[in-house]
Amino acid sequence: MNGLKLVSTGSAMPERVLTNEDLTKMVETNDEWITTRTGIHTRHICSQEESHTQLCLAASRQALARSGIAPEEIGVCLVATFTGDHLNPATACVLQKELGLPEDTVCFDLNAACSGFVYALHTAQCLLSAAPRKFGLILGAEVLSRVTDYTDRSTCVLFGDGAAAAVVEWNAEYPSIHAVLGCRGNTEVLYTPGVNTSSPSYIHMEGQPVFRFAVETVPRCISQVLEQAGLTAEDVDHFVFHQANQRIIDLAMRKLHLPSEKCTGNIAHTGNTSAASVPLLLDELVSTGALCSGQRALCVGFGAGLTWGGALLQLK
Ligand code: COA
Repeated sequence: MNGLKLVSTGSAMPERVLTNEDLTKMVETNDEWITTRTGIHTRHICSQEESHTQLCLAASRQALARSGIAPEEIGVCLVATFTGDHLNPATACVLQKELGLPEDTVCFDLNAACSGFVYALHTAQCLLSAAPRKFGLILGAEVLSRVTDYTDRSTCVLFGDGAAAAVVEWNAEYPSIHAVLGCRGNTEVLYTPGVNTSSPSYIHMEGQPVFRFAVETVPRCISQVLEQAGLTAEDVDHFVFHQANQRIIDLAMRKLHLPSEKCTGNIAHTGNTSAASVPLLLDELVSTGALCSGQRALCVGFGAGLTWGGALLQLK
């Protein structure tokens, strides 16, 4: 016990849609390669006028409005991201001001790359147990287009922008989310240089080692979450995979014998949005009514770090 439930979700996407066809005019690629290798058809990209903060605010306002929870009831605000508008203040601090969260709200950004939202859920569960107010506002948000090299066909076809927010509630009677988090430090196969380098800060990825890492880690992480929770895959209503590559998801589904109807994805129209990916899909499942009250979603992320994380979330 001592756990979290999901109360509501919200999301915000930039207006501009970048299609595979658009990318063929920028690099030597084609729709067939992108679609068959990744499952991606389109992704959303911020204009110069749009910002990470705006997306986070819009997603937060939607999640709060849907929850019926007032900003004054939030005790913890976490933003999983590595592409905020500033190195500091943290986006979570800007949200505190703009949303009118109480000044004793614990607000910070968290960087665990594509595993970030799951890391944030676990962090929120720990922090909320000791917080004066039991609701948390948890976001995953990225503007990856700002760190994408649009001359590198091996990465630029993959990434998109977006933000999603979740209002969660901690209660001593709620089941734990049974988070399984891990890290295998690696600065070679997947990284984004920081401010102390002379080269532009673009995402660098060696696709194949990252693919192998994901295929090894994701099914094991799911099995460990289930084992810790004393459940089987039949007890889970939705598996919410980080949307990095449809082939990774298909391999994990096959290995664990998961039915495809429990593994709905949205990669075709979002691309890989890193920390935003899991909450964006959660929001889609909740707002379409696919994830219903009382149902369980097992969220799983993996990415730079290298990190991975899985957690079970029940919709209130
Ligand atoms: N269009 C056309 N051809 C492309 C291309 C593109 N956009 N990008 C790469 N290629 C070419 C390569 O140059 C290579 O050509 P070659 O055989 O002549 O050398 C060929 O396609 C195969 O490249 P490879 O990198 O081996 O492809 P892949 O099957 O491994 O797919 C990824 C590449 C990135 C889609 C895949 O490795 C992947 O998804 N990795 C994991 C990514 C991930 O999960 N990230 C999560 C954390 S963010």
